[in-house]
Amino acid sequence: MAEQAPELWESPESTTVVVIGAGPAGLTVANLLRHSGIDCVVLERRTREHVAQRQRAGIVEARAVRMFDSWGLADQVLGGVPSDGTLEFRVDGESHLVSDDDGSEGPPARLCPQQVLVQKLTAGYLADGGDLRFEAADISLHDLTGDRPTVRYRTADGTLRAIACAFVAGCDGDRGISRASVPDGVLTAHAFDHGIGWLTVLADAPPPARPLFAVSPHGFAAHFARGPHASRYYLQCPPDDHPGAWPDPRVWDALRTRLADPALTPGPITDRETFRLRSLVHDPMQYGRLFLVGDAAHIVSPMGGKGMNLALHDADLFARAVRDSVRDHDETGLRTYSQCCLRRVWNDQEFSHWLTRTLHDAGDDTHSGPFHRGLARARLDRLFTSPTASRAFAELMAGLDTVPNAGAQDGRGPG
Ligand code: APR
Repeated sequence: MAEQAPELWESPESTTVVVIGAGPAGLTVANLLRHSGIDCVVLERRTREHVAQRQRAGIVEARAVRMFDSWGLADQVLGGVPSDGTLEFRVDGESHLVSDDDGSEGPPARLCPQQVLVQKLTAGYLADGGDLRFEAADISLHDLTGDRPTVRYRTADGTLRAIACAFVAGCDGDRGISRASVPDGVLTAHAFDHGIGWLTVLADAPPPARPLFAVSPHGFAAHFARGPHASRYYLQCPPDDHPGAWPDPRVWDALRTRLADPALTPGPITDRETFRLRSLVHDPMQYGRLFLVGDAAHIVSPMGGKGMNLALHDADLFARAVRDSVRDHDETGLRTYSQCCLRRVWNDQEFSHWLTRTLHDAGDDTHSGPFHRGLARARLDRLFTSPTASRAFAELMAGLDTVPNAGAQDGRGPG
């Protein structure tokens, strides 16, 4: 994009942090900073309505619930219902219940649709006087390695604005401008394509009693709640399949067969997408005063529900680091941000990869061959019969504590 002549820009405003993107990552950063009394401005390119309606993740893991709790924000930002602590694996029609309660203290995971979290984070931040600007176009980042970066953008009415700041939080997802603003060669991308496609369907149909994963020779399927009257379903499909290949009757037939539930109640389908399962990690998650948070830094395959939870974890570490820097001139958190986040990111990548391979290979002896099918079935058998294996699984579902809690370590809470 061509540089604008400086005189066209309004004289820069000033703040401590400019947050790019108002998804779960950006809004969490903004709420935690605001809670710490640190100024920030959030710039989002879409409208408030668009952001509030975007449906994706559905579970806030136990550790993330406790993170919001430790900031005193859980009641304000979390909706949905507490998880009852069990998941169902249905293998060739046979049901196995597995606990996702790791036995640690504190509230359990919450079945909280992403749009509910996003709406509550938005409302809480604005009610608290937060500065959130929608429809911010043509955002560009400048002087990221200097002391005082500048963020430029264009408002909906065409005014050119500039904001000088101490830090930029790049929370604008995998296709945003934050990561794209880092010069070539600074970040290393570690990418993996699982060679698996998923059809995802959202429908106004009764949710299951608990999250349900189904394995069968017909292919993987899953059924999750998205509120009291809505469900999200997943169906394994060829990696480059098109949603048009899945008219309603085919969707419901496949679900009934794969979930081994001939009486499954259908409902109006409100959204239907196909995508390839992929994983991606960028290292480091920082360039100068730009810190990448959430999907801007990493994509995790959706199995295991870790994408949104990793974003919440990054947001917590970033907000603590900025608070320590601003309040106490302690730069440790900023210096170790990338390393601490990436430790958790790789842990969750491993878990999602393990679960993805296990639940696809166990049903599919054509995709990976009967040998991998046998291995995957053995892993499931171990999960269903060994208390130690199921405990390890629950610990990963809850969100392994790979990073010592800074508040617990130094005797201060996050607030
Ligand atoms: N300028 C401003 N905003 C932008 C730009 C841009 N150039 N590009 C993207 N955005 C906004 C998007 O409109 C979106 O609101 O950034 C936000 C990014 O949000 P997400 O893609 O949801 O990413 P993140 O907040 O990291 O979410 C983490 O939650 O369910 C999920 O799949 C999601 O795993 C992901 C997780």
